[in-house]
Amino acid sequence: MVQAPGKLAQAPAVPHLVTELPGPKARAHLEFDKQWTSPSVPRAYPVVPVRGEGCTIEDIDGNLLLDFNAGIAVTSTGHCHPDVVAAIQEQAGKLIHYSADFYIPIYAEMCAELARIAPMKEKCRVFLSNSGTEAVEGAIKLARFTTKRPYLVAFLGAFHGRTYGSVSLTASKAKYHAGFSPLLPGIFHAPFGHVEDLKWFDEVLFKHLVPANEVAAIIVEPIQGEGGYLVPEDGFMQGLRRICDEHGILLISDEVQAGAGRTGKMWSIQNWDVEPDIVATAKGIASGMPLSAFIARDSLMTQWGPGAHGTTYGGNPLACAAALETIKQLEGGLMANATARGAELMVGLKAVQARFPAIIKDVRGIGLMIGVEFDTHEHAAAAEWACFQRGLLVLEAGMTVVRIAPPLVLTAEEAAVGIRIFGEAMADVAAK
Ligand SMILES: Cc1ncc(COP(=O)(O)O)c(C=O)c1O
Repeated sequence: MVQAPGKLAQAPAVPHLVTELPGPKARAHLEFDKQWTSPSVPRAYPVVPVRGEGCTIEDIDGNLLLDFNAGIAVTSTGHCHPDVVAAIQEQAGKLIHYSADFYIPIYAEMCAELARIAPMKEKCRVFLSNSGTEAVEGAIKLARFTTKRPYLVAFLGAFHGRTYGSVSLTASKAKYHAGFSPLLPGIFHAPFGHVEDLKWFDEVLFKHLVPANEVAAIIVEPIQGEGGYLVPEDGFMQGLRRICDEHGILLISDEVQAGAGRTGKMWSIQNWDVEPDIVATAKGIASGMPLSAFIARDSLMTQWGPGAHGTTYGGNPLACAAALETIKQLEGGLMANATARGAELMVGLKAVQARFPAIIKDVRGIGLMIGVEFDTHEHAAAAEWACFQRGLLVLEAGMTVVRIAPPLVLTAEEAAVGIRIFGEAMADVAAK
């Protein structure tokens, strides 16, 4: 079928499967891919997307798939939102790159916009980069630089990225560290999620390991992502803030996965009314263009000078154009939609859990960040595959969780279709 660029094949409803999955062209592509790409890339399952629109992905064989992954919580405004595409196209016709070592207007505009929506009352400043891991690296550097303290605390189950600093903070799976030591020194991992766990700071860390006044920062994903879509108990985030205030420790909120409107608030930490000192953002903030940032209190960011931190590509004009439009869309209704559709998905998925209590142990989350916890890793993997076979894209997280993170443009009809397919897939998994 001849199509306009970016336009999907017309079909009555999504999913719409025209081949088995993976289809013949997908299988041929997997063979090609296998010869040239780094085997370190953690491929989830053999979907080969070539176009996207809203919550639909068209694969290389012309199958239309319902996307509850959003490219791993990235395409917040849906695939190829027309206003985001137009903003990128307009900017591409004007200036594609010059580097933040000079004064690009849209760069400062982007920083001002992120400072405006920052979850802190104090005026903020912003550093723009390209990926989640870079934002985390920058946040670590700023925390050490401003506090003049060496130590950092992250959490068991955390995922912060794959460059040396961020992978040293990561503690979701041992494989991320295997073969890469020595890692960044001076990092401790605390238990995550229960108010009771906070005792670890006084009873273990500050008592036996290091003095509190040598800890630069505590970095936390307010909702753990890769670790299994874990929502902390109420009081946990507030408790962390109290520990930080008591000892002059900075609180860094890694909002790379949970931020950008996904939980119905711009930043997931706002679900607990807690103010961080530094925020790291990426993924959903630019609808799929590579943009990340760390946002910090003015009193911190003004402490370092020229050359302390920089980047050639960070704050690329096309990525900024996409992000400015994305924020407009998030504030213009998509955050509210995340709350509404998230509530529908939660009800529907809990009903599926009630039908299959032997294999589904928990359904949890906020907004469009929902984790379905299985009894075993095998069942979680089988659920992911069974959904894929029916044209619904979901993704494992942690050891036993399937994450549901669709674009924030999800409609009520798409939510209902997704729940129905998920239920059918679970019948398949339970029967095996
Ligand atoms: C919470 C969190 N922080 C950081 C990262 C790293 O982001 P990137 O893969 O863009 O480097 C991720 C990626 O999944 C993430 O989920």
